[in-house]
Amino acid sequence: MWIAVTREISPALGSCELSYIPRDAIDLVRAREQHRDYQQALKALGCQLLTLPAEPDLPDSVFVEDVAIVLDEIAILTRPGALSRRAEVASVANVLRRYRTLLSIQAPGTLDGGDVLRVGRTLYVGESARSNAVGIGQLRELLAGHGYAVRGVPTRGCLHLKSAVTQLDDDTLLLQPEWVGREQFAGFRIIGVDPAEPHAANVLRIGDALVMPASFPHTRQRLLDAGFNVTAVDVSELQKAEGAVTCCSLVFRVVE
Ligand code: GLY
Repeated sequence: MWIAVTREISPALGSCELSYIPRDAIDLVRAREQHRDYQQALKALGCQLLTLPAEPDLPDSVFVEDVAIVLDEIAILTRPGALSRRAEVASVANVLRRYRTLLSIQAPGTLDGGDVLRVGRTLYVGESARSNAVGIGQLRELLAGHGYAVRGVPTRGCLHLKSAVTQLDDDTLLLQPEWVGREQFAGFRIIGVDPAEPHAANVLRIGDALVMPASFPHTRQRLLDAGFNVTAVDVSELQKAEGAVTCCSLVFRVVE
């Protein structure tokens, strides 16, 4: 069974952190409708939803992916790189402790879950403004005993590593070559985003299915042509908050 942890959108979403895109007014009503559609898409793909209530004082808290990394054996609570996001961790930890033993990144380490791409037993971690060398080193030490390798990956011009690259199947990645080097992922089949859709590399994989924003039809067509099963969701209001589809959930397996 898949669990998907989500959190309702904060009424303060309009005051979110922004790093690489300009601020644009967010329609909260529409954002909530889109978020509900996103949740429904996860349910339709077999996820059981665990939804936390909105946090009025934490603008970015809908982006639950950034506060934890959930692996099969354990979960790591992060220490988000943005000070405004650190208080998001505790409530997600309270949910995750039902399912996993929890470890955590400590100061002065910083790490955002959006920077962590797990492919098999390797965690690729973006060396970004949000995830520092201390945080990446701590993650490496925490996971060494669990048989995971941690590899730092330079990123440029984007918020998180998973803005630039995500996994499509065991052997294939979707990648934006302007933001991360293809050479970091030697041995994988790489599908590039359509050049007209620079933000299209963030796709959420659930089993054999992919969820991606509806706003990237050309990249979606590339995935359909390659034989992938793709569900498109309109997340345009969340994209104004520099969010995407992986950010809005923590998806993991539990044994029934
Ligand atoms: N607004 C998403 C983030 O900056 O964390």
